[in-house]
Amino acid sequence: MLNPTHRVMKCENLLDKVARVPQVDIGHFPTPLEDCPRLTKALGGPRILIKREDCSGLALGGNKVRQLTFTIGEAVHQGADTIVHGAASQSNHCRQAAAACARLGLKCYLRLARDHKSVVQGNLLLDHLAGANVEIVDVPFGDELHTVKVALAEELKAEGLKPYVVGGPHATALAAVGFTWCMAEIHRQQETLGVEADWIYAASAGGTQAGLVLGAKALGMKIKPFGVAPLSWDNRIERIQQAANAAAEILDLEVSIDNDEVRNTDAFVGQGYGMLTPDCAEAIKLVAQTEGIFLDPVYSGKAMAGLIDHIERGQLTSDDTVIFLHTGGTPQLFVYNEELYS
Ligand SMILES: Cc1ncc(COP(=O)(O)O)c(C=O)c1O
Repeated sequence: MLNPTHRVMKCENLLDKVARVPQVDIGHFPTPLEDCPRLTKALGGPRILIKREDCSGLALGGNKVRQLTFTIGEAVHQGADTIVHGAASQSNHCRQAAAACARLGLKCYLRLARDHKSVVQGNLLLDHLAGANVEIVDVPFGDELHTVKVALAEELKAEGLKPYVVGGPHATALAAVGFTWCMAEIHRQQETLGVEADWIYAASAGGTQAGLVLGAKALGMKIKPFGVAPLSWDNRIERIQQAANAAAEILDLEVSIDNDEVRNTDAFVGQGYGMLTPDCAEAIKLVAQTEGIFLDPVYSGKAMAGLIDHIERGQLTSDDTVIFLHTGGTPQLFVYNEELYS
C-alpha cells in the first residue's frame, strides 16, 4: 500500500539519493540479470531469471559487498583505520569484510563463533589469506558476540587505533540501502530486457529483503519480494520492516513499509542454521546441472528449495516471471563436501 504522501520515484532520482550516502567502491556493479531457460524448463513453471549478486566482484562475490560498500564507507568517512566484525565461523560477510579491508588498507579483526563448521576451509581459510586477525570464540553468534566485538574495539582504542564495529540494527539498515540500490538496478535491467517480474525470491532475514521491499515500493514496481530465511528468528518480520524504514530515513525517501508488506518464511531452515537439508542439496545440484551456477548450502540453496516448493505446489505458474537473487556464499560449498558428495 502506498502512503497517502507517497509518489513513485524515477529510478535516476533514487540512484542519486543512494549516491549521496558515504560509500567505498569495492564491488562490480551492476551485477548481471540472466535468463535461465534450462532451469525454467526443468521446473515447468514460471520463467526464472537469476540476479547474480554472487558476481559482485570482491572476494568471490555475494550480497554483503553492497552492505560493506556503505558500512565501510561510513567507517572511512568517520576516519576509522580498523574494522571489527564477527559472526558464524564460516561467515560470508566476514570473508568479504576481510577482503575489503585488505583492498582499502584497513586493519581487520574478526571474532567468529565456534560451531560445527569451524574448520580452516571455505570462508575461514579466505579470512586468513586476506590477512585478518582471526579468533574463534566460544560464544554463540548474536548479541553475546556483539558484546565481544564492542569490548575488543575498546581495547583497540586504548592502543591508539580507530576501530569501527560492523553489526547491529544500523548495519542492517545500511544493507537495506544496498538492496534498494540493487532494486533500482533491476528496474533498469528489466526495461532493457523487456521483462516485468511478478516476484523476487532471496535468502534473507534482514537487510537484503528490507532493501528489495523498499526499492520496489519507492519505484512503484509490480515485483513482490519473498524472503526465505536461513534461520528462525521470531522477530524477523519486524527486523526487516524496521531496517526498511531506517533505510528510507537514511535515503530521505517519502515511503514507509508496513509489517504486512514483508513476506518471509522460515519453512526451509530444516534442523537449524547451517544444517544442510535434502531439498537444499537437490536444489544446488539442479541449478548447477541446468545452468552451471553454484548455489550455497546455508543460504541460496535453501532459498531455491523454497522457490521449487512453491512451483511444485502451484503457487507459482507458467504465467509468472520470477527473479531469483543469488546472494552468494559459494565458498561454503567446500565445507559441506561430504554431505554434498553422496
Ligand atoms: C550468502 C548469503 N545469503 C544471504 C544472506 C542473508 O542476508 P540478510 O539476512 O542479512 O539479508 C547472507 C548473510 O550472511 C549470506 O551470506
